[in-house]
Amino acid sequence: MADAPIIDIARLPHPAPVPGATRQQAIADPGFGKVFTDHMLTIEWSEDRGWHDAQLGPRQPIPLDPAASVLHYAQEIFEGLKAYRLADGSMALFRPDRNARRFNESARRLAMPELPEAAFVEACRALALADRDWFPPVDGGSLYLRPFMFATEAFLGVRPAKQYKFVVIASPAGNYFKSGAPAVSIWVAADHTRAAPGGTGAAKCGGNYAASLVPQADAIARGHDQVVFLDAAERRWIEELGGMNLFFVFADGTLITPPLTGTILPGITRDSLLLLAREEGLTIREERYAIDQWRDDAESGRLVETFACGTAAVVTPVGRVAGEDGAFTIGSGGPGQTTQRLRERLVAIQRGAAPDPHGWVMRL
Ligand code: COI
Repeated sequence: MADAPIIDIARLPHPAPVPGATRQQAIADPGFGKVFTDHMLTIEWSEDRGWHDAQLGPRQPIPLDPAASVLHYAQEIFEGLKAYRLADGSMALFRPDRNARRFNESARRLAMPELPEAAFVEACRALALADRDWFPPVDGGSLYLRPFMFATEAFLGVRPAKQYKFVVIASPAGNYFKSGAPAVSIWVAADHTRAAPGGTGAAKCGGNYAASLVPQADAIARGHDQVVFLDAAERRWIEELGGMNLFFVFADGTLITPPLTGTILPGITRDSLLLLAREEGLTIREERYAIDQWRDDAESGRLVETFACGTAAVVTPVGRVAGEDGAFTIGSGGPGQTTQRLRERLVAIQRGAAPDPHGWVMRL
């Protein structure tokens, strides 16, 4: 199919935009994922027409046939990226090309059509500009963009659908973790795994997150913020949290993060931090790290910090880890120096407060 009409976005009038005073109230303390802007962007795909009908208009419910494949076989993928207000007042996206690329990797794994990367980026850009008044006036605030695609065809046979909808919505975002604690506490899932070799662990599909909800709820019930998953084969190697990658910082200046072997999400924040850490002179090792080793290293003082990272969570220190066998504390239990330094460097680039030597920031 020809690409040209895809980024030819029809702008629909907005008959009832949210009044300014209501919007200001909504964005004053948005938290994460609770407040939504008043626009959305949609693009349709069908087997006979390819991508067509790109529209930017009022945010509204989406009519869906009860037999739509997504409701039965979970053919759905998504992305998460943030629009930032830069120090000079302009707006920017952070590495949207990488989200576009990963979106298509997920699409291939879920037997869905690929969206041209330029169309993905243009869709995000157009929505962020339409909702420019929704940036929350809070420290660390951003406009979180959620592009997603799902199968709309009404068909109950098990095969790839022949119709899809791509949508981008936006949500003013503050901190992901509401506790405001200096570091999060995590629970080791003993009975559940997130992904097996050959499965969908590297794809950003809704099903992965649905499957993480029971162990995540278990972690919360036990008083922790997040769950950490171990590998499915040996139940020994640390994989990732429910929606974040993990990094381990050692006293000798080594940084370890689990490798991308197909069972964990290839995080864009993960990738950015690896590059920044290399520039900081840390020794990077993308290799498997065992749960027992984690405890031993934390207790001996060889391991000094652990942090989680992701678009939503940015860089979040892990202070305490608990499991069926007991608990241990990492370093002082609060944010460590390397974690803070990497976070500051990343955030400064994202917000235009530091040079951007890698060309990660796309001004809108
Ligand atoms: C993100 O960090 O953007 C994510 O998608 C993780 C989570 C909110 C599902």
